[in-house]
Amino acid sequence: MDRNDRTVLVTGSTDGVGRVVAQRLGASGAHVLVHGRDRQRGESLVSAIAAAGGKADLFVADLSSLAEVRRLADAVRAMTDRLDILINNAGIGTAGAERQESADGYELRFAVNYLAGFLLTSLLLPLLKASAPARIVNVASAGQQAIDFDDVMLTRRYDGARAYCQSKLAQIMFTVDLASELEGTGVTVNSLHPATYMNTTMVRQAGVTPRSSVEQGAEAILNLAISPALEGRSGLYFDGLSEARADAQAYDPKARQKLRALSLELAGLKT
Ligand SMILES: NC(=O)c1ccc[n+]([C@@H]2O[C@H](COP(=O)([O-])OP(=O)(O)OC[C@H]3O[C@@H](n4cnc5c(N)ncnc54)[C@H](OP(=O)(O)O)[C@@H]3O)[C@@H](O)[C@H]2O)c1
Repeated sequence: MDRNDRTVLVTGSTDGVGRVVAQRLGASGAHVLVHGRDRQRGESLVSAIAAAGGKADLFVADLSSLAEVRRLADAVRAMTDRLDILINNAGIGTAGAERQESADGYELRFAVNYLAGFLLTSLLLPLLKASAPARIVNVASAGQQAIDFDDVMLTRRYDGARAYCQSKLAQIMFTVDLASELEGTGVTVNSLHPATYMNTTMVRQAGVTPRSSVEQGAEAILNLAISPALEGRSGLYFDGLSEARADAQAYDPKARQKLRALSLELAGLKT
């Protein structure tokens, strides 16, 4: 892949670590597809990338609606005939004691942090395969909690941290599963915990004192996205820059199969 020819979609790049990743990729010469739900902040990032000599376009979509995820995938396919890197970064943190639902009636963190990325990736796979070698990076977290398949929508004993942690583990389970499906296609997929308590909106909203910088997290995301050392490596989970083990449920094929079947159904992809 020629560094200057890369086309990269970074979801949730209007704020936090996603914004830094998008700027860094723009500065490296990539065509950055900026995504967010706030047009004004998206436009400000596109202008910042352009002012630094880069190339960027904005896609506005609220990932709490699967119809908007589909619209986003359509818009990306209409804009470009190649996609070298997809970074599923958008997410909502742990703050809030009240259970919330997405536009489709699913538990909100499961829907935005996991299911939206699951559907977006599925819809963009043909484009990624046609652009191989291509990479998918799922920005998960070290905060992980096994999914209770009897109550995935957390209708009982809801709390924000549990919702966040199960959605992050779901991303990792999806990564492991998708990696085997993609074997031999030239498309790799890896997940990571970028850094612990970066100084971002979601961390401040949770009332936590930040412990690391967004630059540190961006470095870890970029490692999976563009480092030559990761070429051909797939299905892995990284803690920062180091390969690590995720929660045991990520390595349970039966649990992954259950999640996959449920996700296909919830995302309307079941045939
Ligand atoms: N911060 C940490 O220490 C930490 C640690 C581990 C993992 N992570 C992961 O890193 C990723 C980025 O987090 P961050 O800390 O940079 O958070 P952040 O500053 O709060 O940024 C989150 C991004 O996601 C977007 N987003 C949220 N809900 C959305 C929705 N419904 N539709 C579309 N976009 C939506 C936000 O858009 P708006 O600007 O419109 O809100 C924003 O661009 C997340 O996946 C998070 O779980 C973060």
